[in-house]
Amino acid sequence: MSLLNFLISKSIMHIPGPLVGIFAKSYIAGPELNDAVRVTKELNSQGIMTTIDILGEFIKNLDEAEYYRERCIEILDTIKKEGLDANLSLKPTQMGLNLNKEVAFNNILKIVDHAKQLGNFVRIDMEDVTCTNDTIDFYRSLRGKYQGHVGVVLQAYLRRTPKDVENLSDGPMNFRLCKGIYNEKRVHAYKDPYIINQSFIYILEKMFQKGAYVGIATHDEKLVFEATRLIEKYGLTRDKYEFQMLLGVDEELRRIIVNSGHRLRVYVPFGKDWLPYSRRRLKENPNIARHALRQLFGI
Ligand code: FDA
Repeated sequence: MSLLNFLISKSIMHIPGPLVGIFAKSYIAGPELNDAVRVTKELNSQGIMTTIDILGEFIKNLDEAEYYRERCIEILDTIKKEGLDANLSLKPTQMGLNLNKEVAFNNILKIVDHAKQLGNFVRIDMEDVTCTNDTIDFYRSLRGKYQGHVGVVLQAYLRRTPKDVENLSDGPMNFRLCKGIYNEKRVHAYKDPYIINQSFIYILEKMFQKGAYVGIATHDEKLVFEATRLIEKYGLTRDKYEFQMLLGVDEELRRIIVNSGHRLRVYVPFGKDWLPYSRRRLKENPNIARHALRQLFGI
């Protein structure tokens, strides 16, 4: 970790909100659903799909879970009403996973069922290792009845992920593969960036071999390059995979991917709960702040 990254990571909880807001601004659509709709329309006009996410996770009581469940349903209805090329991403702890597993599952079930009625799709994000087993269980329970309407995220930094792909290959599979953002112990996750990249490519190939639909979520051009080689190797048509990127990150790479004929989806978070989310993200990945500082001060 560079000195700048180290300093950012250590001091992030003490950096004043308005300053965090400067870093966070380009990565979040705004406080309201309307902001996510506006950003989605702009991206759709460039031939880019989105996945909309309402900010909020690790909630404190189940009323909050009910609130987020209803907001997710509102997002799906709005996507339909506005005719957007977008789907929904949600976090299991936003649905109450850290409080009551059964309630969380039923909340997600209700949302996925609603998505199916509207012909849309829900991606279940993957959080830290305390959530991995339950999140995969949820996906396993839903994917049969809701095939084509639900998918899950798997993280390349986790040592267990190739096994998870193997275990899930007895049914329909729709994955987003990303490196993983949480600060996990070495016993669970690779720490070396080189190994994480090797793991990403290994798992992606495994997913393709098993016939999974994959959202290839990365801004790492080395991985984009390797992914396009695998897409070619397995002769995959455009409808068998998509690239995915976060809002505000490397728009040039975004254009390169789209202009090469691939489908691309941008993750569009919105909501009032942006400060804790942004602080966590900056702590977990100080590179975000480094990029924002570079843009601000040209360093
Ligand atoms: P890496 O961090 O190495 O970045 C590669 C390059 O991208 C950098 O060198 C830089 O050029 C550029 N870059 C990266 N971040 C940038 C930034 N903020 N601003 C400007 N340039 C930047 N994680 C998780 O644990 N669970 C999840 O459910 C998800 N969901 C998810 C959805 C989508 C659509 C994406 C793209 C990512 C996630 N992630 C996630 C986050 C993911 O795990 C990972 O932390 C980030 O994508 C960063 O990893 P990269 O593969 O981009 O590589």
